[in-house]
Amino acid sequence: RQNLSCLSLTPFVTVCLCANTNLTFIFFSCLCTDCPQVISRCQWGAQPFRGTPIPLSLPLPFLYIHHTENPSEPCLTFEKCASDMRAIQRYHQDERGWSDIGYSFVIGSEGHIFEGRGWEIQGRHTKGHNSIGYGVSVIGNYNSTLPSVEAMDLIRHRFYQCAVDGGGLMANFTLHGHRQVVATDCPGDAFFEEIKTWEHFRD
Ligand SMILES: *[C@@H]1O[C@H](CO)[C@@H](O)[C@H](O)[C@H]1NC(C)=O
Ligand SMILES: *[C@@H]1O[C@H](CO)[C@@H](O)[C@H](O)[C@H]1NC(C)=O
Ligand SMILES: *[C@@H]1O[C@H](CO)[C@@H](O)[C@H](O)[C@H]1NC(C)=O
Repeated sequence: RQNLSCLSLTPFVTVCLCANTNLTFIFFSCLCTDCPQVISRCQWGAQPFRGTPIPLSLPLPFLYIHHTENPSEPCLTFEKCASDMRAIQRYHQDERGWSDIGYSFVIGSEGHIFEGRGWEIQGRHTKGHNSIGYGVSVIGNYNSTLPSVEAMDLIRHRFYQCAVDGGGLMANFTLHGHRQVVATDCPGDAFFEEIKTWEHFRD
């Protein structure tokens, strides 16, 4: 599935820059394709995964859209987004007792995708559906306002393509809001109305 010759330099540069990086993990996290830059765990200062990760069986048929709700404000700088990532991870690991931050990926309004559990590891984002879909969350509360156009474009244009080309999502994957499969308000009224108009959305 993975064409190693197309690995860009970026993952290796990341490896060099980050102490304590698990080379095995980084290597298998790479999908070879024209992908937007994904801010790796070590770049945002993640704590290690606790316990034994469950590998996903790719490609997946579903993509679930979330908002973080808390933090409720969109993050507008790299420093703030990275700090929000650490806070979310702390909450999921220490308060909820999970192995790791629950989301597969998290979108900052400054235009970056942050690696949560990543491409290969099962997340904890959409109860009953974690083994069959990625969970992508935008930092902020989008009940009455929308994420930035930049953040939404990252998902609709760059993430979609990257995930399909890299073998993470099936070409005919379907997109759903968290609330369609779990009793929750997530991803907020306004954002949910918006994703209904996106390619791949399915009732
Ligand atoms: C690195 O990650 C791989 C895959 O998750 C795991 O099997 C291995 O034990 C890890 N190695 C270290 C030194 O943490
Ligand atoms: C979301 O906004 C609607 C009005 O647009 C409001 O009725 C609802 O209570 C809000 N939900 C939350 C969770 O704040
Ligand atoms: C997507 O394609 C696979 C086979 O390639 C099929 O099993 C699945 O039902 C299709 N999903 C949708 C939503 O059409």
